Amino acid sequence: MCGIVGAVAQRNIVPVLIEGLRRLEYRGYDSCGVAVLAGGEPRRARSVARVADLDEQVRETHLEGFTGIAHTRWATHGAPVTNNAHPIFSRNALALVHNGIIENYESLREMLRGKGYEFVSQTDTEVIAHLIHSLYRGDLFVAVREAVQQLHGAYAIAVEHKDQPNTVVGARQGSPLVVGLGQGENFLASDALALAGSTEHFIFLEEGDVCELTLERVRVADRDGRDVEREVRTVAAYGGAVELGPYRHFMQKEIFEQPRAISDTIPQADSFDASLFGDAAARAFGEIDNLLILACGTSYYSGLTAKYWLESIAKIPTQVEIASEYRYRDSVPNPKSLVVVISQSGETADTLAALKHAQSLGHRHTLSVCNVGTSAMVRLTELSFLTHAGREIGVASTKAFTTQLVALFVLAATLGKLRGHVDASLEAQYVRQLRHLPAALNSVLALEPQIIAWSEDFSRKENALFLGRGLHYPIALEGALKLKEISYIHAEAYPAGELKHGPLALVTEAMPVVTVAPNDALLEKLKSNMQEVRARGGELYVFADSDTRIVSEEGLHVIRMPEHYGVLSPILHVVPLQLLAYHTACSRGTDVDKPRNLAKSVTVE
Ligand code: M6R
Repeated sequence: MCGIVGAVAQRNIVPVLIEGLRRLEYRGYDSCGVAVLAGGEPRRARSVARVADLDEQVRETHLEGFTGIAHTRWATHGAPVTNNAHPIFSRNALALVHNGIIENYESLREMLRGKGYEFVSQTDTEVIAHLIHSLYRGDLFVAVREAVQQLHGAYAIAVEHKDQPNTVVGARQGSPLVVGLGQGENFLASDALALAGSTEHFIFLEEGDVCELTLERVRVADRDGRDVEREVRTVAAYGGAVELGPYRHFMQKEIFEQPRAISDTIPQADSFDASLFGDAAARAFGEIDNLLILACGTSYYSGLTAKYWLESIAKIPTQVEIASEYRYRDSVPNPKSLVVVISQSGETADTLAALKHAQSLGHRHTLSVCNVGTSAMVRLTELSFLTHAGREIGVASTKAFTTQLVALFVLAATLGKLRGHVDASLEAQYVRQLRHLPAALNSVLALEPQIIAWSEDFSRKENALFLGRGLHYPIALEGALKLKEISYIHAEAYPAGELKHGPLALVTEAMPVVTVAPNDALLEKLKSNMQEVRARGGELYVFADSDTRIVSEEGLHVIRMPEHYGVLSPILHVVPLQLLAYHTACSRGTDVDKPRNLAKSVTVE
């Protein structure tokens, strides 16, 4: 999964391409590169550092041109080294950038080797470049159309050829690609955000489309080669730099933005109405008798938390499944299911594919809980609820998670009300609790200095266990994911009752055990599980509600949460875990906002 940008213009286009790459770094940052046509063979600059380094290179080498393509890479085939960085050349005549995975690249490579093409990278992408080159007879559009017929897998590509200096050709199948329409200039990008400031007019290409951009014209052909008119949509994407303010990293800033993000996400009305989810929601909610939630990573954990709410508040059977598993297994479709997809980006390939799979099985009612209103996921679902977290830049998701929890709680309360399980007084109580959340979160954020003190200990560990029970088990999972993702400490989460069935064998004096201890019905059970850890010498780090009577002693460290928060407690208890991961990562000196091997948006499977 990578980001691509391309442009044909009558001005030096390199600064626009570089700025586009900066905005697409959320799609991967293993390497980046740009290639321009400026009379004669294409010229390129590539870097295995960040876009800032590429920018320096292009300035030093005066790389300029009116036609260009650029790429930011998340490595799939081939290590993140310069040789594998895009743009990839074919015989110094053609340059190409690619987002996706070509599944039949081995057979294509053999075929192209037979034609005398030499391969200099380990990428699957190089076959596309040579394939198009081998088919080129003076018309790049035609060559690309012929080439894509032979590709199996996912791709969004942008290509330029030295013999057509004012042309960029693009194609997509399985990976996103938008055309940006300018005045006397035209653009291509993986995401409209990359072109903010250059245009607000976009064509969202459809599966199988091939397009040709020249200065005055954009031509689109569908998968059958027929010229087609695609709808032009106006999208005012905000591309301005997001300021870091007083924070060290975007992750820290985003953790502290949670009170605001949550207050923006809580519906303004004092009642839970189906219309919060779209015009068709009242009818759809009346036709369902169960939920199927599909998501990945942190969004999956918000789904797991929601299952507890949906089954206890709305009494509606709920199944939660990892999207990448659901899409490939035989499942039994149920026309009375509401399929709920949860995603910060709305572009996660596995979740999108799972949604399409569910639809292909006949599921009519679909709902997205998403942070990006223009995303493919929102466009594909019947109903939607937008979280208003604002742009999340840190790869580790924080405010997107807590706002998803708010959205899903609202869903549970709404379905509970419709199904007769939430009466007016309970509804008023839920509304009050939601409204109090931002203030409660501010009190939790004030625990930061105590958490910093713990993070010093954690930064010297290589393993950690996280425990939770019931509604807070998914919160333990999320805490462990945060820690491993940004501090590179191996962390596992378990429902505390499961400890004795295996993981207890891992517990020694060297094993910190983080415990989420709200004052709920399972507290006494959880205390017994904590004793099991202490008896084996394990060091406990407990986030306990104020009224739990868990006190610090030898081997037992306690941070007291400011208040007990009932049914919405997961939204508060996850915040200290975010801060613990963040400060541990800072102590270890990792690249917190861009942890190794990851990307913000996972747009390949
Ligand atoms: O954009 P999405 O919410 O669909 O992304 C899903 C996961 O890739 C994402 O939550 C990932 O697990 C985060 N980096 C975790 O912090």
